[in-house]
This record gives sequence, structure tokens and C-alpha cells, in this order.
Amino acid sequence: MKILVTGGLGYIGSHTVVELQNSGIDVIIVDNLSNSEISVLNSITNITSIEPEYHNFDLADKEACNLFFNNNSDLDGIIHFAAYKAVGESVNNPLMYYRNNLESLMNIMDNMNTRGLSNLVFSSSCTVYGQPDVLPVTEDSPRKEAESPYGNTKKMAEDIIRDTIYATDLKGIALRYFNPVGAHPTALIGELPLGVPNNLMPFITQTAVGIREQLSVFGDDYNTHDGTAIRDYIHVVDLAKAHVIAIKRLFENKNKRDFEIFNLGTGNGYSVLEVVKSFERVTNTKLNYKIVGRREGDIEKVWANTDFANKELGWKAEQDIDDMTASAWKFQLALKK
Ligand code: UFG
Repeated sequence: MKILVTGGLGYIGSHTVVELQNSGIDVIIVDNLSNSEISVLNSITNITSIEPEYHNFDLADKEACNLFFNNNSDLDGIIHFAAYKAVGESVNNPLMYYRNNLESLMNIMDNMNTRGLSNLVFSSSCTVYGQPDVLPVTEDSPRKEAESPYGNTKKMAEDIIRDTIYATDLKGIALRYFNPVGAHPTALIGELPLGVPNNLMPFITQTAVGIREQLSVFGDDYNTHDGTAIRDYIHVVDLAKAHVIAIKRLFENKNKRDFEIFNLGTGNGYSVLEVVKSFERVTNTKLNYKIVGRREGDIEKVWANTDFANKELGWKAEQDIDDMTASAWKFQLALKK
């Protein structure tokens, strides 16, 4: 099998390339380095002893995209990660987000359609559920009005894929990630946030290592057991493994519908303070944090019902919250060297 991985040098993309190559699948990476480092290519090669083919161009550039598919019409599938993902930035630059995240997808699907390439795995997000009325959230839960242009691109991308699949011979799977955290056990790849991290885990590890002075815990007046917000954190390696299963499912025609959607989480919710406690436990350190007001746009609590993914994909997240914080810390320490 030969798979195109767009955004393959990014956080989730790079871990997925490793798992694909470890499963004997050939990988071609397209990544324009807009939020990734070229050194990740070496790290992937070091982990797997295989250097994946790599192309640097912007998938939103239709001509460049067409040219790539002209030269690579023998792909067995595509896993599409390449997208902008900063919620706040998307609020300030909505057109940049719509253009980048949706044009790249449409360019890819155009080429799949005209060249008879049928298998697409798309990286979607639990952000499409907003604050669900019922927890845990199943794939049938209604999608809510998006909180940000970023969230809206995920929702719209799902619709673009669904509608195109219904009108063509394409097949696809959208994977709705909950909160991916952690790093590869080798500590050679992990999350590399640009500037000040928005997300909890890199902020924790950067605070512990001294890059940030203090973690702000956003809100302790939520309707949860300790008042802080709850998320379903999932180890990035567990997430990456689900992509290998998903693309094989399409390739081997095991899918039950032409367009399928799966929640990828652990099914367990942890509060912000529980993540902090886990970090302190596994690192045997005290984290400098303070409680501040809520962050605008944050939801109170969400965690996944993973029954459908467990049953249909035969996949289950294996790593717990302590594994996640420990691997994120190991990666942070490796970065410092
Ligand atoms: N948090 C803090 N302090 C921080 C950072 C985060 O207390 O410095 C809290 C947040 O308020 C939230 C939890 O930690 O309660 C998790 O926050 P993250 O930013 O790590 O993750 P989010 O759940 O906010 O974001 C995720 C994805 C986004 C997606 C969003 C949709 O990372 O891509 O869900 O809600 F858009």
C-alpha cells in the first residue's frame, strides 16, 4: 500500500507516518512547513529506519496539487491532516482559515475524483459537537454551531466530504479527535507549538521546564467535581494507530458505509486539575499554577463514547493519563538538550 499523508510532518501526522511505516505501508508526505519543522523528517527516519518520500508545496495551490497527483496517480489512499488549527488565530483571520483548510481539501478531492483514487481519511475534531447536551458524546450527537472559524472548517470539511462521496465513487472516514496529547516513546517527535502554547499539555511542560512562569488554570467554577473543565485526553500514539486501521478498512473494503465517522478518545474525562495532578505525580515535581477566570469560548465538559470505534475498528486507546503526561514530559526534556 502507498498512502499520501498531508501534513505528515505535523504533530499527529508525524506519529501517524511512523505507525504506517511500522505497518509496512509506503508513505509520501506533503507538508509546506507552515507549522512544522523539516527536522521531523529525520526523526521519522530515525524511528522507523525508513525515509519517507517528502514534497514541500501548498495543497491550496491548485496547480501544484494537480501536478503532484499527475505524478502520483497510483496512491491507495490519502490521510489528510494538513490544516491550520489555532482557534484564536482563526477568529482574527477567518478567510485565511477557510481558504487554506477548505481549498486544500477540495483540490485533493477533485484529484481523487478525476483520477479514480477512492480512500480518504480526514482529521476532524470533537469541536463539531460544541457543548453536547448528553455525555458521553456519540457519533450521532447533533453537531452544534461552531465556536470559531477553525471549528467551522472542520464541520464544513465533513460536509464537503460527505456530499462529494454521495455524488461519486469515493469512500471516506472522518475521525473526530478529542484532545490529543503526549509524544512518541522515543521522544524524537512530539508537539512543537509555535510561540506561547494555547493547549494545556504543552503549557504544563513548558512551565515545568521554566520556559513559562506559571500555568493559568482557566476557571474553577464549572459544574464539574473540582470546578475545572473536563476533556477526553488521548495519547497521540493511540490516535495514530487508529489512522492505520481506518485507511486499511477503506482499502480492504471493510467499511459499512461510503462515509463513516468515528470518535477517537479514551472515553474518560479528566479535569484540568486532574491533568496537573497526574503531571505532578509522574514527574514528582510541583507545578506552579494559579486559578484565573474562564477562557472565552471554552466548553465545560466533553468526553467520548468510544463504543462504535472500539467495535467497528477493533481499536481501543491503551494509554492512560499518566502515560500521556509522562511522555509529554520526556519529549519536553529531550527538546531542552
Ligand atoms: N487550559 C488551561 N490553561 C491553559 C490551557 C488550557 O486551563 O493554559 C484548559 C482549557 O481551559 C480547557 C483544557 O485546559 O479546559 C484543555 O484546553 P486545550 O486548549 O488544551 O484544549 P481545548 O479543549 O480547548 O481545545 C481542543 C482542541 C482544539 C479545538 C477545541 C474545541 O485543541 O483544536 O478543542 O473546543 F478547537
